Amino acid sequence: MKVVVSIGGSVLVPEPGADRVAEHAAVIEDLIDEGCRIGAVIGGGGVAREYISAARNLGANEIELDQLGIDVTRLNARLLIAALSEESVTAPALDYEEASEALRRDDICVMGGVAPAQTTDAVGAALAEYIDADLLVYATSVPGVYSADPNKDDDATKYDELSATELVDAIAGLEMNAGASAPVDLLAAKIIERSGMRTIVLDGTDPDRIARAVRHGEHGGTDIVPDGVGAEPTYWASDEQ
Ligand code: UTP
Repeated sequence: MKVVVSIGGSVLVPEPGADRVAEHAAVIEDLIDEGCRIGAVIGGGGVAREYISAARNLGANEIELDQLGIDVTRLNARLLIAALSEESVTAPALDYEEASEALRRDDICVMGGVAPAQTTDAVGAALAEYIDADLLVYATSVPGVYSADPNKDDDATKYDELSATELVDAIAGLEMNAGASAPVDLLAAKIIERSGMRTIVLDGTDPDRIARAVRHGEHGGTDIVPDGVGAEPTYWASDEQ
């Protein structure tokens, strides 16, 4: 089973420290031991936001800010690599071809951002599409996809399941509300829609939840089920990974 796990920077590195990174690395290695092939995409989190804000105050343009953000995602990716065994790549893959080659060698593939004007949400979706993954998991700091920003709207409800087209509509609605941040951005949702990728959006602060989602489809977040696909994929129906 091929899985792309996209871990938000604020999930992996809520503050500079080793514990959370070690826990996520351990879960990834457990899944590999069980026969999964894993591509991990790491976000920039609060550190990226702080650097971007400082550079914006210094007059950097938007592309320069994106490059700075990409550098921080790769810095966080290197932290995960430091916690992984020698089966991992030694540096973040810089593009999808490099990432795919690492997976073909049966290495644990890790990457951060790749190009300006997007986020690692889109990188996760594009990598999943490129390697023809069985499953894409977004480990975010929120419990799933909501109808509105749950921090601002008491009526916001979490979706247990959405089709990819419904995901695109839900995210587009959220992005039009200034200040509301969607757990997955619109470009990522569009890639998920075109690729028909089975996707889960979950609260990744507990890495065991990622493991349960990959092993059994249990997560308490939001399932994005491609149009025309049956209820449960075969890898959850059997013991096979
Ligand atoms: P993130 O993927 O962490 O963005 O990349 P985010 O959605 O703002 O972070 P979370 O999910 O809230 O933690 C950080 C920044 O790096 C740049 C963008 O500026 C992004 O905001 N970036 C990242 C790119 O320009 N291209 C990429 O491929 C990835």
